[in-house]
Amino acid sequence: MGKQHIVAHQAATKSVDKIPVTREGFITGMGIAAATLGAAVGLGNIWKFPFLTGANGGAAFLIIYLMSTILIGLPIMISEILLGQRAKGDVVTTLIKMAPKGQPWWLIGIAGILSSFLILAFYTEVVAWVFAYVFKAVSGVLLSTDPDTNMAVFNQLITDPVQSLVWQWVVLFAIGCIVLLGVAKGIEQTTKWLMPILFVLLVVVSIRGLTLPGAGEGLSFLFQPDFSKVTSPMILTAMGLAFFKLSIGMGAMMTYGSYYRNDQHIPLTATGMMVGDLVVSLLAGIAIFPAVFAFGFEPDAGPGLLFVTIPAVFASMPLGSVFVVLFFVLAAVAPIGAMISMLEVPVAFLRGRMGLTRLHATLITIALLAIVGSTVALSNSTLAHFQPFDMTTFDFYDFLTSNILLPLAGLFICLFVGWSWGFSEMQQTLSLSDTRWNRYLTIVLYGIIKFVTPTLVMIILLSGLNLL
Ligand code: PFF
Repeated sequence: MGKQHIVAHQAATKSVDKIPVTREGFITGMGIAAATLGAAVGLGNIWKFPFLTGANGGAAFLIIYLMSTILIGLPIMISEILLGQRAKGDVVTTLIKMAPKGQPWWLIGIAGILSSFLILAFYTEVVAWVFAYVFKAVSGVLLSTDPDTNMAVFNQLITDPVQSLVWQWVVLFAIGCIVLLGVAKGIEQTTKWLMPILFVLLVVVSIRGLTLPGAGEGLSFLFQPDFSKVTSPMILTAMGLAFFKLSIGMGAMMTYGSYYRNDQHIPLTATGMMVGDLVVSLLAGIAIFPAVFAFGFEPDAGPGLLFVTIPAVFASMPLGSVFVVLFFVLAAVAPIGAMISMLEVPVAFLRGRMGLTRLHATLITIALLAIVGSTVALSNSTLAHFQPFDMTTFDFYDFLTSNILLPLAGLFICLFVGWSWGFSEMQQTLSLSDTRWNRYLTIVLYGIIKFVTPTLVMIILLSGLNLL
């Protein structure tokens, strides 16, 4: 290790040591890994990934999604965590601290808070349906093999304003309680338990899928690419999914980074999380597609795949009544870590910048979410006529965040790290965890963040939105 390197390391450590010791943080390395993986894993893996893969032609989409994850998702995830770990603040404070005086990079933080709100508004409603489905599965309502009957059950739920609202409040109450417990006792402890449970459930359900006769067709749908399906909007969708999946571009990773211990190896943790998240998505695909094909259903059922096709698939298989319960418990457990990471973004902001207590910050955020969320909960009933840009509020929030706000924020995070924060700051922060951090790897990572990722995001964004 060079002398310059040691000095840089000491300087970085010193500036971080000035942070008051009272700030909350994760306690163990394992806890950090669980919380970060918990933030990434969610309904994205079990609901969005399968239906988008199904609707966009299977393996070709999977390959573009993989490339977006590695070349775009991972570098942005590392950048966000690095900034948070270094600044030890909420999204806005972090960017104000790290940026040269007077430059408005903190706007990325504001965009992140807005995205986390809008995502939570529709995400909590999908989780609300899943919660309702756990009860339906247990009480045997989901045992029809006929998708039309299941469609009627689903429609009855989403067009009922009372059920839609109340289940969303149950979800908001649950995540509010966890976040109230704080970073170590709430977030870290919860995700440390949830992740192994989720994994075991997923493996059990995918083994069931794989052992069905006729499972091969589903596997080849998932793994044999047909590149004629590749179009610019499809590439934009794949990139949007990569952002959504890794929880980047909205400050969740930056906020969690601020709770990281200084000795946490960020590139290794982020890469591990990316791989872990991919494994969960692939397992979910393996749990779903072979079964869908084995029982002669269509894979491209859109968002309804989870609520209409899946129950019919389970009802068609031996022991289906047990597996349908397992599956919806799995789908209810998976998004909890993701929701608390999103909720923590505005909560940390209200605490950090407005000086509120955790209790007040959480209560205010949950109350606001109940209001914004109701525009989604009621989008199939009372507010059905309200269609911004000819979309339901649900689709509008999803499109606006995944396809526009998250990529834009990600783009500006790369531009900030690459062109404003700079190589030596990045190198210093990286060397906090490992003084032998390989300089050549840092150069490669920096080059990707500075040139490759922003160029790709820009091209995909412009062509996907038909602006190129
Ligand atoms: N990554 C989560 C999922 O795939 O379900 C969703 C999500 C969580 C998106 C947190 C954004 C976020 F900040």
